[in-house]
Amino acid sequence: MFVGNAKEKFFYHNTLLCLVKALQDQSTVIDLRNDSYVCGIISSVDGFMNISMSNVVYCDSQGNEYSFENMFIHARNIRYVHVPQTFSILTTIRNELTKTKQKIIPKKPVEKSRKAKKALKLHMETVASI
Ligand SMILES: *[C@@H]1O[C@H](CO)[C@@H](O)[C@H](O)[C@H]1NC(C)=O
Ligand SMILES: *[C@@H]1O[C@H](CO)[C@@H](O)[C@H](O)[C@H]1NC(C)=O
Repeated sequence: MFVGNAKEKFFYHNTLLCLVKALQDQSTVIDLRNDSYVCGIISSVDGFMNISMSNVVYCDSQGNEYSFENMFIHARNIRYVHVPQTFSILTTIRNELTKTKQKIIPKKPVEKSRKAKKALKLHMETVASI
């Protein structure tokens, strides 16, 4: 289930954020806007596409490599997120979004609102009879 405020949820459902989110726990490469890149495992992605990675190798534009246990990448520094070849993009997005949908269904919002309407009607009648 995607956790975040309304704005983050909107991004999740309306941008490719859901694809990046599906790459959580996967090993991948992220190119940064300053021509450096980061290889590692995506540990978490927030609703603005800021990404936390672990077991990181950071390569700067001169080709120097540095290892870090963890790295936080600001969304605004990301140029590309490489999607591993074993991932079918469409299937991944579909699976990711159904995963969230299934968690929402048990709430049964229709039944609840019908009950609420009934209660409201009853209240209104009570108020009117006073
Ligand atoms: C490139 O951006 C990353 C992430 O913000 C930063 O850690 C790194 O120092 C930058 N490298 C250069 C050469 O500016
Ligand atoms: C993630 O990025 C957004 C904008 O890109 C920023 O407003 C937010 O504070 C960032 N989150 C963290 C934890 O730094």
